Amino acid sequence: MEEIGNRRETTVSKNDCGDEEQRAEIDMWRYIFGFSEMAALKCAIELGIAEAMEAHGQAGISLSELATALNCSSSYLYRIIRFLIHLKFLKEKCSDATNGAKLYTLAPLGRLLMKQGERGMAALVLLETSPVMLAPWQALSGRVRNNDRPAFEAAHGEDVWDFAATNHNHSKLINEAMACDARIVVPAIVNGCTDVFDGVESVVDVGGGDGTTLGMLVKAFPWIKGINFDLPHVVSVAPERNSVEHIGGDMFKGVPQADAAFSMWVLHDWCDEECIEILKKCREAIPKDKGKVIIVDAVIEEADDEQEKEPGDYNYKLKGAKLMLDMVMMAHTNRGKERTREEWRYVLDKAGFSRFVVRPIRAVQSVIVAYY
Ligand SMILES: C[S@@+](CC[C@H](N)C(=O)[O-])C[C@H]1O[C@@H](n2cnc3c(N)ncnc32)[C@H](O)[C@@H]1O
Repeated sequence: MEEIGNRRETTVSKNDCGDEEQRAEIDMWRYIFGFSEMAALKCAIELGIAEAMEAHGQAGISLSELATALNCSSSYLYRIIRFLIHLKFLKEKCSDATNGAKLYTLAPLGRLLMKQGERGMAALVLLETSPVMLAPWQALSGRVRNNDRPAFEAAHGEDVWDFAATNHNHSKLINEAMACDARIVVPAIVNGCTDVFDGVESVVDVGGGDGTTLGMLVKAFPWIKGINFDLPHVVSVAPERNSVEHIGGDMFKGVPQADAAFSMWVLHDWCDEECIEILKKCREAIPKDKGKVIIVDAVIEEADDEQEKEPGDYNYKLKGAKLMLDMVMMAHTNRGKERTREEWRYVLDKAGFSRFVVRPIRAVQSVIVAYY
């Protein structure tokens, strides 16, 4: 049958303005349906597509083999696969010589959909796409327009940490996502900032979650004794780890003593005044002569910072992700935010630190080391 009505649209003006408008419309459709990318990733993770394909090896897997392995319908699965190929998570290989069926393999991006393993990032997708984390986005404009209740509180009636204290499943999702991030960031810290841990005999991880980060740090720097410090409901379910003691408490009231206070993805959850309070407690916990606070958080580049960057700088390439993370802070925390170097300087200065250094690493976060 002849196909009609399939001609390319040629009426759009050839001038720059027409090109720009056409580009804008194309981009806009991506934003209108952008949520479907996130939803398809969640679907792929829940089905276990990456694990099934990895188990099949580099030879590739056919649609019917994958459908059998995942116990699901080929017709729906095909549409997910086609979309994931378009998004470059999967690759289509040449057909199977015996039966002509198309074969599919994981692309490097697809491997990041794994739930386990050093590089798997599935837990972060599952947290951000959970109904609990999606609901506050509906309240964002109210927060911005009227400085209404924080978006998370508007959606759930309490802040994220109080919510997690009584919702075991959500607390587990947060801890798994943080542990997943730690598996990516800690090697970047170890490779990029080994010297920061020279001469440090003990480290307290403030808001350390289930202790994954500290467990990895003491493994890389075996002379360090670790104290994992977090809210009581978090440390009470944290697994035992070699050279790590779990202590439950409230960082606004006090932090256990150590040579260095370490804090990853914690300070961005809080406004400047709260950040200063936490940093003061960290300062009180470390000795004046050799003590340091090691902060692992994003540093948003300003125009001056951008000029200093090499074009290939991995951390700089993540500027878009850092700005998205800042939106996440607005949706999910009371008054948390991502900070520029000047904003970090302000809170550190007010907390009584006399100097600090920012070390970009191969991650969204940088390492900020502060002394007093
Ligand atoms: C975004 S998570 C970061 C976890 C961990 N640092 C990581 O990167 O894997 C923030 C942590 O701060 C902890 N937290 C929140 N309020 C706290 C408080 N008042 N005292 C101690 N920890 C707190 C939370 O329980 C949570 O584990």
